[in-house]
Amino acid sequence: MKEVVLASSNPHKIEEIYEILKTLEYKILSMKEVGLGDMDIVEDGDTFEANSLIKAKAVYEATKMPAIGDDSGLMVDYLNGEPGVYSARYSGEDKNYAANNEKLLKNLEGVPMEKRGAKFVTVITLMFSPEDYVVARGEVHGLIGEELKGSNGFGYDPLFVVPEKGKTFAELTSDEKNSISHRANALVKLQEILKERG
Ligand code: IMP
Repeated sequence: MKEVVLASSNPHKIEEIYEILKTLEYKILSMKEVGLGDMDIVEDGDTFEANSLIKAKAVYEATKMPAIGDDSGLMVDYLNGEPGVYSARYSGEDKNYAANNEKLLKNLEGVPMEKRGAKFVTVITLMFSPEDYVVARGEVHGLIGEELKGSNGFGYDPLFVVPEKGKTFAELTSDEKNSISHRANALVKLQEILKERG
């Protein structure tokens, strides 16, 4: 089985990506498993694409093994796409989920439901070498709720309402979220690209 290192230290994301990639013929190794547990990657790109490439390249360069970089975030229509690439640090450098949600609710105070459209975006780069890599983008559309609901998932999940389900991501089971999420959509695309490559 081919091995690939996942350039992420976020345990929630690792778990979701592991779950979804179980079907692929790749063994996913964490940064910890290849001795990069404390490697700090500076994500200073302006786009999800740029940041996912930065992450994949950093891990590839350190290991010379195929590497997956993933960058994701929330884009809110009313806020012109914010917080976007700054989703993790929306309320400050300490990447506090509760404070981020509080700030988002505050910035949307009084905004009616029909104007609270948003999407989660994930871009995944699978790098075989700096000259040979594939990029897959996945999105999921929803609305930003007026209050926190549910306790599953992480980050903005308690505010991200999936209209077709009438529930937030945090009210869905992990299987339900993993079947429709931005990350799942990006991984499905990645699978298609890999099949085409043979
Ligand atoms: P990262 O840069 O890809 O680690 O993700 C940036 C930030 O986007 C995370 O810290 C979360 O705040 C948010 N985010 C990304 N994916 C999700 C998700 O599936 N649910 C909730 N928040 C997410």
